[in-house]
Amino acid sequence: MDKRIFLSSPTMHGEEQVFIKEAFDTNWVAPLGKNVNEFEKEMAAYIGVGHAAALTAGTAALHLAVKLAGVKPGDKVFCSDLTFSATVNPVRYEGGEQVFIESERETWNMDPRALEKAFAKYPDCKCVVVANLYGTPAKLDELRAICDDHGAVMIEDAAESLSATYKGQQTGTFGQYNAISFNGNKIITTSGGGMLLSDDEAAVAKARFWATQAREPFPWYEHKEIGYNYRMSNIVAGIGRGQLLHLDEHRQLKEDIYRTYEAGLAGLPVKMNPYLDCSRPNFWLSCMTIDPGCPVTPEQVRLALEAENIEARPIWKPMHLQPLYAANDFITVGDRVGEDIFARGLCLPSDIKNTPEDMERIISVIKGLFT
Ligand SMILES: Cc1ncc(COP(=O)(O)O)c(C=O)c1O
Repeated sequence: MDKRIFLSSPTMHGEEQVFIKEAFDTNWVAPLGKNVNEFEKEMAAYIGVGHAAALTAGTAALHLAVKLAGVKPGDKVFCSDLTFSATVNPVRYEGGEQVFIESERETWNMDPRALEKAFAKYPDCKCVVVANLYGTPAKLDELRAICDDHGAVMIEDAAESLSATYKGQQTGTFGQYNAISFNGNKIITTSGGGMLLSDDEAAVAKARFWATQAREPFPWYEHKEIGYNYRMSNIVAGIGRGQLLHLDEHRQLKEDIYRTYEAGLAGLPVKMNPYLDCSRPNFWLSCMTIDPGCPVTPEQVRLALEAENIEARPIWKPMHLQPLYAANDFITVGDRVGEDIFARGLCLPSDIKNTPEDMERIISVIKGLFT
């Protein structure tokens, strides 16, 4: 059997260990220390945002963002529909009720027209969670303008899109509160971790307070609010500092993979995941859709790849189709875009360690199904 080709696995370089060693050498093996402080500063500087709080996961960042937005039990929150469940679950942690918003075809992200329609139906909604799927920026300025018009807080879930830009501006800066992830499959990883980003210094300070058990400034443990154990450890932050040195290089390698698929699959009845000319995705995952009417199914492609020890994955199943959220409202402007992409799409192996030979192996399996 040929070697396993992964969808997107960690790529380590060596500098990570230098930062970890320093933490060991100085015995800062705790959820605080130089690596945490520096990683926050370095990441905020890279992205161009005022403040960052390093946390145990992107999900934790989204949870604290939802709290900062003031979501209370029973509140409606408009959420991207075609995304991973972690984008939307934190709304439920706070007792809020997600209303899922249909995607558009140009980026596969939240459709501004559907968002407007949602505000017409639920004018009291005060929070919107927008994800950039597979590293492709949504129509971020349009979405933000609609949120502003309705006095709603926008949370940007940039978990998958770190280093992508929209009109020259980094993702993770378009919401009042923004989240990124360093999960093992992401463009850079800390094995597990995330960050909350915002220009609002007081909000980020509050998030750090909640993330460290909401301990009041007393000599004894004094609590007025519910807290969480969400702070990133100094060891984990060391991995992040080492990885950040390679973020731009990872983005370029991800783009190379996308371009290789684009050229290699040309002529087949398939399309690559689309993006706007005004944006520069990070190409975290390359995906394809099979043209309508073609008898080949994404599942046939996935199974053919798996038979060759190559990992591919179905498109994320839309949230409004999830049994967990069967009772939630879903706002569409007619065309069922998310369902269609889920039915016709597939996430292709996008591991930056793929060699040209690996890419040829993948592309020839796919081509074999269409001839
Ligand atoms: C879109 C999206 N949001 C949120 C998350 C959650 O991040 P984490 O795994 O770091 O909690 C992920 C990935 O895991 C994701 O893909």
